[in-house]
Amino acid sequence: MTKSILDYNTVELDKNDNCVIIIDQTLLPARTELIKLSTAKEIWDAIYLLKVRGAPAIGVAAAFGLYVLSVQISDEIRSGSDMQKDSGTNVETAAGADEGTRFYEAFLKQKDYLNSSRPTAVNLSWALNRMDRVCKAALDEGRPLEEVIGVLYKESMDIQQEDIDTCRKIGEYGLSLIKKGYGILTHCNAGQLATSKYGTATAPIYLGLEKGYDLRVYADETRPLLQGARLTSFELQSAGVDVTLICDNMAYSVMKKGLINAVFVGCDRVAANGDTANKIGTGGVATLAKRFNIPFYVCAPTSTIDLDTKCGDDIKIEQRPDTEITEMWYEHRMAPEGVKVYNPAFDVTDNEYITAIITENGIAYPPYSDSLKKLKPHK
Ligand code: MRU
Repeated sequence: MTKSILDYNTVELDKNDNCVIIIDQTLLPARTELIKLSTAKEIWDAIYLLKVRGAPAIGVAAAFGLYVLSVQISDEIRSGSDMQKDSGTNVETAAGADEGTRFYEAFLKQKDYLNSSRPTAVNLSWALNRMDRVCKAALDEGRPLEEVIGVLYKESMDIQQEDIDTCRKIGEYGLSLIKKGYGILTHCNAGQLATSKYGTATAPIYLGLEKGYDLRVYADETRPLLQGARLTSFELQSAGVDVTLICDNMAYSVMKKGLINAVFVGCDRVAANGDTANKIGTGGVATLAKRFNIPFYVCAPTSTIDLDTKCGDDIKIEQRPDTEITEMWYEHRMAPEGVKVYNPAFDVTDNEYITAIITENGIAYPPYSDSLKKLKPHK
C-alpha cells in the first residue's frame, strides 16, 4: 500500500546520524521528499524558507536542531579539536575556560541564531528556552557534557511527544463544539504538517472523521504561499476528509450560502488579552464570521500563548520577500518589475472576534485576560 502524507513524521530526530529529518513542505503536494539537516545554517534556512513551518513544528524542529548542534559542540570540545571554523558550532577556545562554560557559550550562540529564523511564532523561542533551562540546570549541577547531552535529548523528545498529546486534547475539546454534518472553514495549514500529529485546527476534524461526524471542510487557499491549497487540502484529502478548496476571497460567498457552521484556525502567538496572530487573512475571515454569526475558534497549544505580550499591537509581524507575491508559483512574473509590495506573513485578529480559544487544558472564553491565565501552566 502506498504511504499517505500522514504516515510521515513532520519532524524527526535521527540520533545515529545526528541530524533533523523533515518533509520539505515547499515541494508538497507534488513531491514528498525528506531532507536531513545537520548544520546550524541548514536548520535556520529550513525554518526561514518554510521547508518546515507551522508554529508547533517550528518549535520541535528548533529543539531537535539545538540538540544536534549541542552534540557537535560537545564532540568538538571533548576531542579538543580546532574544527570550529568549518563546523560553524561557534566554540571559542577561551584559554582557561572549563568545558561546561565553553559548551554553554557556544550553545547560547546557536540558540540565538536559530531563534532569529522567524519572529512571530512564539513556539520557536518557547522550545529553545526550554532547552536552555534544562541545559543550564544540568551544567549548574556540574554534570559532565555527556550527561548534559542526554538531558537535552530527553527534553527535545518530550517537546515532540507533548505536542502530539496536546493536539489530541485540542481535538477532543474542539470536537465538543462541533455537531455532525457541520461545514467548517479553515485558513492556512494548522494541520498535521504544522505539528507533530493531528494538527491543531484540524485535530477536531480528524477525531470527527474517526467518530463518523461526516464533516465538510472548506480550505482557504491562503495566498501568497498557498499553505491551504498545497498543504491543508492535501493532507485532509489524503485522510479521506470531504474537503473543498476555495480562494481566499470566496469565504464571504460560502458563508452567505450557509455552508459554514464554524471556523477553526491555528495561531502563531496569542497575547495575554486574547488578540491572536495567525496567517495573513485570518483577521478578514474572523470579521466575516462575526458578520454571519458563525463561531470563530482559535486552536492554541498553551505553548503558543504568550502572557508576556500584552496585546496584538506588541506582536512582531514577519515581513517576507516581495517575490512571494510577484512571481512565486507563476510560470512568468505576474506583476510589473519594480512595483512596491507589502507582504506581511501574519495579521492579528482582535479578541472581540474570537468566540473561544481551544487549548489542551480546556476552552478559554472571553474575557481572555482572565481565562488564558487559568489555562496556561508555568512551564
Ligand atoms: O507561515 P506559516 O506557514 O508557518 O504559518 C502557519 C500558520 O499561520 C499556522 O496557522 C500557525 O502556525 C498554527 S500551526 C498549528
